[in-house]
Amino acid sequence: MTSRDRYDGVAMGLHWLMAAAIIVLLVLGFVMIGQRPGSPEQFKLYQLHKSVGVLVFGLAVLRLGWRLGHRPPPLPDTMGKAERLVAHAGHWALYGLMLGLPLAGWVVVSTSPYNIPTVIFGMVGLPHLPLPRDLNTLAKGTHLVGAWVLIATLVGHVTAALRHHFVLRDQVLARMLPRFGREK
Ligand code: HEM
Ligand code: HEM
Repeated sequence: MTSRDRYDGVAMGLHWLMAAAIIVLLVLGFVMIGQRPGSPEQFKLYQLHKSVGVLVFGLAVLRLGWRLGHRPPPLPDTMGKAERLVAHAGHWALYGLMLGLPLAGWVVVSTSPYNIPTVIFGMVGLPHLPLPRDLNTLAKGTHLVGAWVLIATLVGHVTAALRHHFVLRDQVLARMLPRFGREK
């Protein structure tokens, strides 16, 4: 595989860093909502969730910018039209969710009746959006449904990646992995 057939280092680095951060966010999200309401543990986990979530948003903006300026390697010729369409739709859905979920989270905290400040990694305050409190229920619902849509899309994404590698035996997974060994 030559360098034109694989993702560049920035795309790969962002992909795997964000994959790890998003999995942490999903676990953290479900763990924190199960904590004793108002407990210090819950407060800490919420602050961590919000901090990592804002970081993911920033990285998603960077990544989208990079993606628009750098064409990814072409999909293998063996893939049919419908398969290509599903692959592209899935990737763009993931970009949408990486941007949309943090925004919905920001609306949740901005409209919360508890009015709790968000301090990103204990350092920088995130201002609340000037939005009416009535939006809180809708924002919470959107954030929750968005999280489940993300989980479903990721199940499809990971299944497809593993199918390419182990069933179709093409280079689709390999081109998103750092190269080990010699390059041809
Ligand atoms: C990709 C980014 C994010 C993911 C995957 C994510 C995921 C989740 C999940 C799975 C939950 C638990 C289910 C739920 O109640 O909705 C949750 C809850 C929550 N998240 Fe996020 N989140 C993200 C970003 C953010 C950001 C940036 C903020 C705020 C700045 C935020 C604020 C919250 C809040 C306040 C809750 C509790 C909602 C409630 O009490 O109903 N999230 N998140
Ligand atoms: C939270 C987790 C993840 C997110 C949000 C995510 C998101 C994305 C996005 C948006 C792309 C499209 C890149 C582009 O062309 O612009 C992509 C590509 C890819 N992802 Fe993920 N991904 C995640 C986890 C994973 C995991 C766990 C695997 C492996 C099992 C994986 C394997 C791949 C592969 C192989 C590609 C390249 C597909 C191609 O060449 O067309 N991803 N991912």
